[in-house]
Amino acid sequence: MEVIFETPRLLLREFTLEDAPLLLQLNSDPEVLKYLHEPLLQDEAHAETILRNIILPQYENKLGRWAVYLKENNVFIGWCGLKHRPELEEIDLGYRFMQTAWGKGFATEAAKQTLVYGFKNLNLSLITGRAHIHNIASIRVLEKIGMEYIGEGIVDDCPVKTFTLQNPY
Ligand SMILES: CC(C)(COP(=O)(O)OP(=O)(O)OC[C@H]1O[C@@H](n2cnc3c(N)ncnc32)[C@H](O)[C@@H]1OP(=O)(O)O)[C@@H](O)C(=O)NCCC(=O)NCCS
Repeated sequence: MEVIFETPRLLLREFTLEDAPLLLQLNSDPEVLKYLHEPLLQDEAHAETILRNIILPQYENKLGRWAVYLKENNVFIGWCGLKHRPELEEIDLGYRFMQTAWGKGFATEAAKQTLVYGFKNLNLSLITGRAHIHNIASIRVLEKIGMEYIGEGIVDDCPVKTFTLQNPY
């Protein structure tokens, strides 16, 4: 298990194929996927396919979506991380948490340190964040971590607000 980094309350590590039950738990909640262009996961086999084909290959270039754990009790609460989107020529900041973990500042804490990791450890020049125009919580997170609002547009058939940040280091 490769630990990526820790924050005061959180630990981020790489997913493995054994994490299909965790991913299923997260991606089978319609509220979690409300603003996302993704199908609900129905079973562990489907979750394992997503891990094998989409999440794990991103780790080859040190990027990826990382499993987020609460340090105080070692409970999985969701994921946060950076994804290369070659079709858009960008590195995308993303986060997704179980409903039980919402509203406690965890997304902000994980995303802020993900920016630092991306800029300092990976030497990225620009990171992009996008959220559905009605996904107020996600937009708020992008604002709170200091990203700059670029504008609205349609991406992946969804109306989104786009934010970016240049490497400040
Ligand atoms: C978006 C998400 C990650 C936010 O996680 P979180 O841990 O609750 O976020 P935080 O607690 O760090 O911050 C949320 C902020 O949004 C605010 N917020 C949440 N819902 C809100 C609403 N309906 N109206 C106004 N503000 C709202 C919170 O008050 C907080 O801001 P504040 O600190 O200024 O009060 C979480 O809701 C989630 O996982 N959603 C489902 C997946 C998703 O949409 N991911 C993003 C895809 S772009």
